[in-house]
Amino acid sequence: MGKKLIKNGCLVTPSDMYYADILIEDEKIKAVGQDLDVQEAEIINADGLYVLPGAVDEHTHMSMPNGGTLSMPWETETVAAAVGGTTTIVDFAIQEKGTTLGETIQKWKARAKGNTAIDYSLHIAITDLTDEIIKEIPSAVEQGVATFKLFMAYKEDKMVDDSTLFQVLKKAKEVGGLVMVHAENGDVISLLQDQLIEEGNTHPLFHAVSRPIEIEAEATRRAIALAKVADAPIFIVHVSGDESAEEIRRARSKGQPVYGETCPHYLFLDESYYDLPSFEGAKYVCSPPLREKFQQDKLWDAISDGTLQAIGTDHCSFNYKEQKHLGFNDFRKIPNGGNGIENWIQMLYSYGVRTGKISLNKLVELTSTNPAKFMGLFPKKGSISVGSDADIVLFDPKIEQQITAEKQKQGSDYNFYEGFEIKGSPRHVLLRGELIVENGNYVGNHSQGEFVKAEPYGVAYDLHNQKRRNQNESQQIKVTGTL
Ligand code: URP
Ligand code: ZN
Ligand code: ZN
Repeated sequence: MGKKLIKNGCLVTPSDMYYADILIEDEKIKAVGQDLDVQEAEIINADGLYVLPGAVDEHTHMSMPNGGTLSMPWETETVAAAVGGTTTIVDFAIQEKGTTLGETIQKWKARAKGNTAIDYSLHIAITDLTDEIIKEIPSAVEQGVATFKLFMAYKEDKMVDDSTLFQVLKKAKEVGGLVMVHAENGDVISLLQDQLIEEGNTHPLFHAVSRPIEIEAEATRRAIALAKVADAPIFIVHVSGDESAEEIRRARSKGQPVYGETCPHYLFLDESYYDLPSFEGAKYVCSPPLREKFQQDKLWDAISDGTLQAIGTDHCSFNYKEQKHLGFNDFRKIPNGGNGIENWIQMLYSYGVRTGKISLNKLVELTSTNPAKFMGLFPKKGSISVGSDADIVLFDPKIEQQITAEKQKQGSDYNFYEGFEIKGSPRHVLLRGELIVENGNYVGNHSQGEFVKAEPYGVAYDLHNQKRRNQNESQQIKVTGTL
């Protein structure tokens, strides 16, 4: 690959916005500076465009078994991701009961190989903890999988008990792994759901009734308490409302390393979507469910005050016609999950940055730099700095579109954000210096994504890292930045 020079663009980092050129060579950023003049470089004119680091979506589910069916595959969804400005995903590899972590990692890598348009890293979701699996945790970290997800819900297949959560917190901490939790009380949800069905309440709206916010907040609080006793950091995924955010806020105000993510659908959609006519509400069945409208402002507050550090899509996409209809007579059988990877950056820009809720710097921090730091990918990913991978989005704030499933690259037959007007969209996207999106069109070869090894001791270990640095001043210590 020859040299490329991005000229005249406005660079955006979590802290700054300034005009500079970027020289790319051998997949990496070689120089960032004013008026770079390089012979024999292909010039990419970024006049009038923002230059952002490629988005790092740390929460996706590609080809994931859920509710007796598989979510949309790598092939379609990673192309959709690329067009939407995402150059790296961190996907959840789900341990099938009776299998090892090593087997799970290999299975997920085999699915991704040759089928991913963008780079990827993995979390591993432990569903079946044995003594052997605990012992295997350090080996997973050595293989580049340093984040562990535990589901406190989905009693039918993925849920773990408190003992599992506690043991994984302790073991992961020994090797710098980060535990992420889906915090909902699965036992109580299961009881509520069975009762609702017995009473004849089969409609999708009862999905939300069966998963009240208190059930999420209780599990959040429990997970935080267990992390405190285990003396380990913890990351709460898909925080959907104030009650859960408040648990994180309270714990961190006392100095506990507790962090969290929310998702675009909790910021832009609300529970009224479950009242759509006929069975349409099934499109929005995800867990935790969409909440009351006022919760959106509460989540924006939690982002602004630093309670939540990241946004991930929780992209777990299904077709409405066939897959969501599996639960036509019983909301419990609707596969949980929605889509968003194609439009999340457009939505966050149009309805977050343009409305003044967040700055463009904050958008970069929430969707690229912080996810990379928490997941052990920084500074290779999530940064426009010398030495980083040349994953770059040239973002055009003038592009106007209406989101519609008819034009999307995502494989599903519907779009979470159908009908939303957006202003601002990725125009060109580079993956490790290769142009994969040109003028909004995917031009890559569909299979150039690579596995990215995550490093342990991500930014959730901030204080711990500081101690390690102090103790080893002479030694070089790999750190993944500070918040
Ligand atoms: O409804 C959701 N969120 N589906 C994906 C799996 C999960 O809980 O993250
Ligand atoms: Zn979840
Ligand atoms: Zn998820």
